[in-house]
Amino acid sequence: MRVVAFLWLSVWLVHGEHLESDQVVSVPEGWLHDGRVAPLEEVELTFALKQQNVDRLKERLELVSDPDSQQYGKFLTLEEVSSLVRPSQLTEKVVKTWLQSHGVTLCHTVLTRDFLQCSMTVQVAEALLPGTEFHRYRRDGQILVRSSSQYSVHDDVSQHLDFVGGVLRFPPKGKEISKSWVGSKQSAKGIHLGVTPATLRTRYNLTATDVGTAANNSQAVAQFLEQFYHPADLAEFMSLFARGFKHLTEVERVVGTQGGGKAGLEASLDVEYIMSTGANISTWVFTNPGRHESQEPFLQWMLLLSNMSAIPWVHTISYGDDEDSLSAAYMNRINNEFMKAGVRGISMLFASGDSGAGCWHKTKEENVFRPSFPASSPYVTTVGGTSFKNPFKVSYEVTDYISGGGFSNVFAMPDYQVSAVNAFLKGKQSLPPQSYFNTSGRAYPDMAALSDNYWVVTNLVPIPWVSGTSASTPVVGGILSLINDHRFLKGLPSLGFLNPRLYKLRGTGLFDVTEGCHLSCLDDKVEGQGFCAAPAWDPVTGWGTPNYPVLLAALVKG
Ligand SMILES: *[C@@H]1O[C@H](CO)[C@@H](O)[C@H](O)[C@H]1NC(C)=O
Ligand SMILES: *[C@@H]1O[C@H](CO)[C@@H](O)[C@H](O)[C@H]1NC(C)=O
Ligand SMILES: *[C@@H]1O[C@H](CO)[C@@H](O)[C@H](O)[C@H]1NC(C)=O
Ligand SMILES: *[C@@H]1O[C@H](CO)[C@@H](O)[C@H](O)[C@H]1NC(C)=O
Ligand SMILES: *[C@@H]1O[C@H](CO)[C@@H](O)[C@H](O)[C@H]1NC(C)=O
Repeated sequence: MRVVAFLWLSVWLVHGEHLESDQVVSVPEGWLHDGRVAPLEEVELTFALKQQNVDRLKERLELVSDPDSQQYGKFLTLEEVSSLVRPSQLTEKVVKTWLQSHGVTLCHTVLTRDFLQCSMTVQVAEALLPGTEFHRYRRDGQILVRSSSQYSVHDDVSQHLDFVGGVLRFPPKGKEISKSWVGSKQSAKGIHLGVTPATLRTRYNLTATDVGTAANNSQAVAQFLEQFYHPADLAEFMSLFARGFKHLTEVERVVGTQGGGKAGLEASLDVEYIMSTGANISTWVFTNPGRHESQEPFLQWMLLLSNMSAIPWVHTISYGDDEDSLSAAYMNRINNEFMKAGVRGISMLFASGDSGAGCWHKTKEENVFRPSFPASSPYVTTVGGTSFKNPFKVSYEVTDYISGGGFSNVFAMPDYQVSAVNAFLKGKQSLPPQSYFNTSGRAYPDMAALSDNYWVVTNLVPIPWVSGTSASTPVVGGILSLINDHRFLKGLPSLGFLNPRLYKLRGTGLFDVTEGCHLSCLDDKVEGQGFCAAPAWDPVTGWGTPNYPVLLAALVKG
């Protein structure tokens, strides 16, 4: 009997394949188990269908983003992206047949046909994905449905799918944006200079007339945590801090569900600063707390982008998770999605994170730095943070010690940054021990902006000392939108995926940040210190912070 049972088990095992065997399956701190989900309750799962021509998509992105290519700026429409990458008929057929054989028929696709989002009962989901067991989890009023164990899919479909979303991944920890105690201490000595739109415009050389004027220009912020901006906060912020230059006081469009309740600091920050830097430019807010308990909000946003043919040119996002907690299949597919955006001429800006080089206690004895994704993606522009050298005046900038940066352990270093990064690695400054980071990986951030001591209006109250790369990212986003504006007025296409062009500038139009180090592991070997800023590119502040008129002059051609 035992032998028979064993044989039966192994037959079953060869029929199932794990798509994401390297995805961490554990309940992150803070989430409380709230019981098994009943068999007849509904879940909504997202199937990422294998795309075609991903190598051609990558080639195309390199050509349209390289200013020395004949193809520079020759972007594709979403329909053209769709005809390039949409899954083969075989893939669509196999996946559909598989779903239908389990009685799953309620599915929605996107314009590029490479995602299917389907509703089904938990009982069906557990049969479809052997190994799963769906449970409910809670964290501060947020409810989530996830499987407590790995999923597999039938052998016949595994080669047609990248991954299934809504099964394993929990949303990353809602980073509390830091309220700097350093700032509050310094203020005791005199009137501390908080960062306001006026401060930024002075430092980055924006004049009162540097505002958007092109009819079709647009920019967006995307938010995934349970965070909302309030229109009244934005209006109050503008009336308090955005004097002397033309700006808008309302968001053009909210995509997703804007919940009620208290405004989030992060949400207020993003909208207030992209709209005061990229002033007078139509702004959208993508807000996605997850319509359904079983969805992954970040993935939902990626699906939306593939389902809307007209979306803003610049997107800024403060969101990230530890690279080591995510499966390679998932990250590679998200990279494809960034490439799809890039070939459409869309710029994706991600905050580099607020933990410096990070620290991963890999074993009891071994610590290594901990890169964050999507910051470590080779297909986005990653923004780090700085502070004023002299916090009492608009002085030059130094590293903000929280500024996220380092080297990916998953993605190889892209060609566009090889010489810049090698110059840094061979430079004079001392490096952390080699065992802490991977010199062959994609290095980030790409550039930076002030990230310390911002004023934000939230729930109608002006709040000082708000800090984090969530502040610097919308500022850089607004500046890129202003540059797009001049390009549109000259009949040129948008900047699109900026990195290939940014690295060719070799620092032109950017204030080089050369002082200060960011934080990392608090152990005997590195004592809390990660990388240090250096002349030209460095893994703390990238190429530096924008000097608008010079950057504009360099990027408004061709
Ligand atoms: C994509 O858009 C179409 C048309 O608006 C809609 O019917 C479909 O449900 C959308 N897909 C998803 C996954 O939401
Ligand atoms: C921009 O700002 C810097 C420092 O604030 C200043 O030195 C410079 O002259 C300004 N103008 C240009 C065009 O760089
Ligand atoms: C603001 O933008 C609109 C186009 O959206 C433009 O017509 C107007 O001239 C701009 N205002 C200023 C002061 O440049
Ligand atoms: C603005 O967009 C609309 C619709 O996408 C298009 O028809 C129009 O030509 C665009 N205008 C400019 C100035 O690019
Ligand atoms: C270092 O990064 C490369 C990608 O550039 C990767 O293939 C390799 O596995 C990484 N090594 C470690 C130890 O993580």
